[in-house]
Amino acid sequence: MTSDTPASAPESAELDPRIVHAQQVYSRSRLGIYDKWVLGVFCRVVWRCPAGVMRRLYNSSAGNRHLDIGPGTGYFVDKCRFPTKTPELTLLDLNSECLDMSAGRLARYRPAICQANLMEPLPLPSRHFDSAAMNLVFHTIPGGWDTKGIILKHVAETLRPGGVLFGTTVLAEGVPMNRLTSKMVLEQHRRGNFQNQGDDPAGLERQLAKYFPEYRVTIRGAVAIFTATVG
Ligand SMILES: C[S@@+](CC[C@H](N)C(=O)[O-])C[C@H]1O[C@@H](n2cnc3c(N)ncnc32)[C@H](O)[C@@H]1O
Repeated sequence: MTSDTPASAPESAELDPRIVHAQQVYSRSRLGIYDKWVLGVFCRVVWRCPAGVMRRLYNSSAGNRHLDIGPGTGYFVDKCRFPTKTPELTLLDLNSECLDMSAGRLARYRPAICQANLMEPLPLPSRHFDSAAMNLVFHTIPGGWDTKGIILKHVAETLRPGGVLFGTTVLAEGVPMNRLTSKMVLEQHRRGNFQNQGDDPAGLERQLAKYFPEYRVTIRGAVAIFTATVG
């Protein structure tokens, strides 16, 4: 395997090819430029929600026992100011390259690793975590809100009462678009990197309401920023 070869997903007869593609694009070489281009340029210029907004979300929402879902390079967890110096971290991803890179970057916290598909019930303890983050993950998952909303059920089950889910996702509908944003959303659809066709704020709110008694969605550029609390 070369550094350009996408990481392979766990064997599963039922894995939707679009789910496989959504995480395979994060090969080692692409992760090498991810922080600079995706977080540094695309978030600010194209999606119009700078990474600084996401960093503040982490700082205000991450708890001591934290589950990071789809950590990518581990950038946000690395920069996060946790409530204590010794947070208990778990990193969950389908892609082993993302797990390797983020776990290496966060080695000082000795994170636990979980390779799993978000569309399936998660092999994690229930009612355990103070917080879970899903930053820039939902827009990569196919199927529309009525299909991928099940992820919120899976995550809610891992949070202790009062635990908080937070994150962001790029939307394709119901948010202010400019020409560059519209063009780049379509280009990401063409490449299969984004699978957020039809994703709008109302659909996200509807799914959050199913599994979380309290939630909040705000829009910045083409990005939904969400927090939700388990009862
Ligand atoms: C765009 S990256 C976001 C990385 C990071 N959270 C950030 O904000 O920079 C999406 C992440 O979600 C993971 N992912 C995509 N589909 C997944 C699935 N079905 N199950 C678990 N992880 C998945 C990818 O492997 C990748 O780490």
